[in-house]
Amino acid sequence: MLSPMKGLILAAGRGTRLRPLTHTRPKPVIRVAGRPIIHYAVENLLQAGVEEIGVVVSPETEKDLRLALEAYPVRYILQEEPQGLAHAVGVARGFLGQSPFVLYLGDNLFQKGIRPFLEAFSEGVSAVIALVRVENPRQFGVAVLEGERIVRLVEKPKDPPSDLAVAGVYVFTPEILEVIQDLKPSARGEYEITDAIQGLIERGRKVVGVEVQGWWKDTGRPEDLLDANRLLLEELAPRLDGEVEESHLTGRVVVERGARVVGSRIIGPAYIGEGAVVEGAYIGPFTSLGPGARVVRAEVEYAILEDQAVVEDTPLRLQESILGVGAQVRGRNGLPRAHRLVLGDLSQVELA
Ligand code: G1P
Repeated sequence: MLSPMKGLILAAGRGTRLRPLTHTRPKPVIRVAGRPIIHYAVENLLQAGVEEIGVVVSPETEKDLRLALEAYPVRYILQEEPQGLAHAVGVARGFLGQSPFVLYLGDNLFQKGIRPFLEAFSEGVSAVIALVRVENPRQFGVAVLEGERIVRLVEKPKDPPSDLAVAGVYVFTPEILEVIQDLKPSARGEYEITDAIQGLIERGRKVVGVEVQGWWKDTGRPEDLLDANRLLLEELAPRLDGEVEESHLTGRVVVERGARVVGSRIIGPAYIGEGAVVEGAYIGPFTSLGPGARVVRAEVEYAILEDQAVVEDTPLRLQESILGVGAQVRGRNGLPRAHRLVLGDLSQVELA
């Protein structure tokens, strides 16, 4: 392995497929199993021995990312305009200098970390690309392999040449920056990292594909968030640091410091964040409550409640649901017997 290796996390995207959650906050700060998605990226880099980490942010995402990453000594690099992943890497050239680096898409989750990709980055290799077999390759960059070597890469092909999708971790020598400098925008008007890697291949460089071990998640859509939350909760180590009174907890449950669980039933795996309140409630499997969230006289299952979200006195169990920061779902008595809704743009409600 060449060294010193730097890490570059991309977190400037708009997260359009996750609206309305991403109207107000960037996707990488959304919590899964209690932690902002981007924490897992930083932790995976640190665990692989990559200590100098830069995060590419946009004017819209910078503030939230700085807040979410407060505890980590990372550098911030501003991408003024969303012009594609290769453009974001180009913007970071000052930070990257002449170091080899790991490029990590800030919304990707890897169960088993990223070490195998770094280990494959040996002498004579210009790039290592994490690959994963998928059923829907049209939604990804797609690779054609000959042995360990990638001989062709195409971004979101209509007619995929294989089922090997590009997952969001890449290891590069600084040569990729030269290719990016000469890159032309794609049909969708973006500078694609996939085209830059294809450029390396055309220069005759050795680009290696390494298949992802364990599960991998690109958290593009709401159902991906719920699934990522489920997968991470499956590995939860139970821990009760908060107050639990007259309640029955089964399976793997974390109750964080300052949280209160009273007169409730929780079936794990479930995560109850700092200062959250669960009262007279049922919390079912694969549920995460963010800091200060409240579930009172209500039932919630297979769900993510972000910070300060509230579910109170609801007549039916909430399932497969995501509530953003401060979102509230409350039942009401009295007349008229009607639903009363205040929903932001592109909100989604399904009434049973
Ligand atoms: C990006 C890349 C794509 C890759 C995917 C993995 O696509 O362009 O090659 O397969 O990330 O998450 P995006 O999700 O930005 O559309």
